[in-house]
Amino acid sequence: MTAHLPTLNLIGAGRVGQTLARLWTQGGVFAVQDVLTTSMASAQGACDFIGAGTPAPSLGSMRSADVWLIATTDAQIATAAAALAAHAARMTTPSPVRQAAAAAPATAQETPSTPIAFHCSGALPASVLAPLTALGWQVASAHPILSFANAEAACAQFAGTPCALEGDATARAQLQAAFTAIGAQCFEVRSQDKLLYHAAAVFATNFLPVLQSVAEDAWRATGVPEALLPHLRASLLNNAVANITRLGPQGALTGPAARGDTAAIARQAAAVSAWDEKSGAAYVALSDLALRLAGH
Ligand SMILES: NC(=O)c1ccc[n+]([C@@H]2O[C@H](COP(=O)([O-])OP(=O)(O)OC[C@H]3O[C@@H](n4cnc5c(N)ncnc54)[C@H](OP(=O)(O)O)[C@@H]3O)[C@@H](O)[C@H]2O)c1
Repeated sequence: MTAHLPTLNLIGAGRVGQTLARLWTQGGVFAVQDVLTTSMASAQGACDFIGAGTPAPSLGSMRSADVWLIATTDAQIATAAAALAAHAARMTTPSPVRQAAAAAPATAQETPSTPIAFHCSGALPASVLAPLTALGWQVASAHPILSFANAEAACAQFAGTPCALEGDATARAQLQAAFTAIGAQCFEVRSQDKLLYHAAAVFATNFLPVLQSVAEDAWRATGVPEALLPHLRASLLNNAVANITRLGPQGALTGPAARGDTAAIARQAAAVSAWDEKSGAAYVALSDLALRLAGH
């Protein structure tokens, strides 16, 4: 029975859009309505995976909805929001839920009468949806901190995922309820902090492969046998993860910075710079942070 659920339209339904829409369909949170991607074939595939929804041939064909998820890639979000605003300005028929909401006395729990639009980018703020704000819509961003490798796996892994909400209060309140209903742990991020918040995730995960790559290149340059690199990679990373998880970053720190051995750091920085200038600069910057972490 989805007749009285708030309706959800999707513009973009890849890994994140399909995952959320399927979980919300299964959880009875939203009634997925129209789904727009770059082709009818991929939109049909998304609807098949979600288990609900109708592929939309164009933005102009999409019906009004209570909630709109713009789950395109980041680069397309602003353009999609502007196009949606132009379309919304032309749309006149309110959804059944909004008609009912308008006729019934308001309560804190019910679907708001103005549409909500949100995106899931970690780096972009809700204000990228400004053309919709200009129409009186409520806008927000909701960033689940999960690597959505594919929708099938992400559905299985989603429960417990921390989710950063930012934007208009009414939108945040409804999204908090919707995300919590499928197992997310929501928290709020201020709009002005979004870039720093997302950069933190880059530090936490995206830089690990970069550091590993520098290390392996330096080992190669010093004659460490290629066949030993996979073993070094697995053992050092696994031990680091286990130690950081158990002891926290400060307790897990080892090496010259942990000992406060600034002379050794300076000698190694010079050696790294002589081998590769950019890696040398990174070594100096990271050593400074390591000394600070160690309290030296
Ligand atoms: N992947 C992650 O781990 C992750 C984690 C947290 C947040 N996010 C955020 O979630 C959002 C979506 O990322 P994703 O990984 O799900 O991307 P994705 O898998 O690449 O999917 C993008 C979707 O947008 C569609 N699309 C692209 N341009 C479009 C347009 N102009 N109009 C309509 N649809 C369009 C694509 O259509 P086709 O299907 O036809 O190609 C596809 O369905 C991004 O804001 C991203 O930053 C991603």
